[in-house]
Amino acid sequence: METIREDNSLTLNKLKTKIEVKGLRLSFGTKEVLKGIDIKIPEKSIVALIGPSGCGKSTLLRSMNRMHDLTPSAKITGEIFLDGESIMGKKNDVTSIRKKIGMVFQRPNPFPKSIFKNVAYGLEINNLAKNGKAKSIVEEALKDCYLWDEVGDNLNRSALDMSGGQQQRLCIARTIAVQPEVILMDEPCSALDPISTAKIEDLILKLKEDFTIVIVTHNMQQAIRTADYTGFMYLGELIEFDKTENIFHHPKEELTKRYVEGNFG
Ligand SMILES: Nc1ncnc2c1ncn2[C@@H]1O[C@H](COP(=O)(O)OP(=O)(O)O)[C@@H](O)[C@H]1O
Ligand SMILES: [Mg+2]
Repeated sequence: METIREDNSLTLNKLKTKIEVKGLRLSFGTKEVLKGIDIKIPEKSIVALIGPSGCGKSTLLRSMNRMHDLTPSAKITGEIFLDGESIMGKKNDVTSIRKKIGMVFQRPNPFPKSIFKNVAYGLEINNLAKNGKAKSIVEEALKDCYLWDEVGDNLNRSALDMSGGQQQRLCIARTIAVQPEVILMDEPCSALDPISTAKIEDLILKLKEDFTIVIVTHNMQQAIRTADYTGFMYLGELIEFDKTENIFHHPKEELTKRYVEGNFG
């Protein structure tokens, strides 16, 4: 059934912004990869970033976690704010930014340690596991990630012996254990089978109650299933950002329309 395009520019502006990216430009050497990105990520929503491979989705996401700090060729200008405060520049401590803005990667990357130690890791480095609270925090995080029933009876097992899907849920548990405010996910299901993918998507939808989530995905169905808002990127620019329903069914830009209809990328 044809639906009518709801104009959301007004609605979007009324939402509380959690992360604001303003005029962000990023070059690796002489190659400009982000060409002036402006986006406001609404609090406690799921935002998907879609677009063809190489358009800058991961680069944008990684900027929000200060991941380019150690890449000497990366030159960044513009601003990124968390709750109105800049997260850019040397004056801002990267560890405390990453405590507030956690990241989950494309391939599950548990440490070669026990399940318990993986989840407790962030608590230690952030000095959060005071008064012997680590055990209960780890248990809570594993429950939140639907892992407790599967692994709760033996947390001393190596994380590397878990299935890929379990490992990715463990990485999410490790991220949420430190109670971040934002979770960035870079194609978190691309290495997983459909059943594990469904579990992670389920989890993402639940996590939105407590966290703001930005997810990069090459899977348009995944964006439709999970995201409240979707941004379409192309060659380093954010072409369009709107309610997911509008991006897929009533895009304003011809380029967005061609992409979501599967004509390129
Ligand atoms: N560390 C890096 N050094 C040089 N070029 C990079 C680096 N990381 C990414 N790029 C380039 O930046 C562009 C955007 O990459 P990326 O953000 O990974 O795209 P996407 O996630 O949309 O596929 C690509 O052309 C990629 O080759
Ligand atoms: Mg990428």
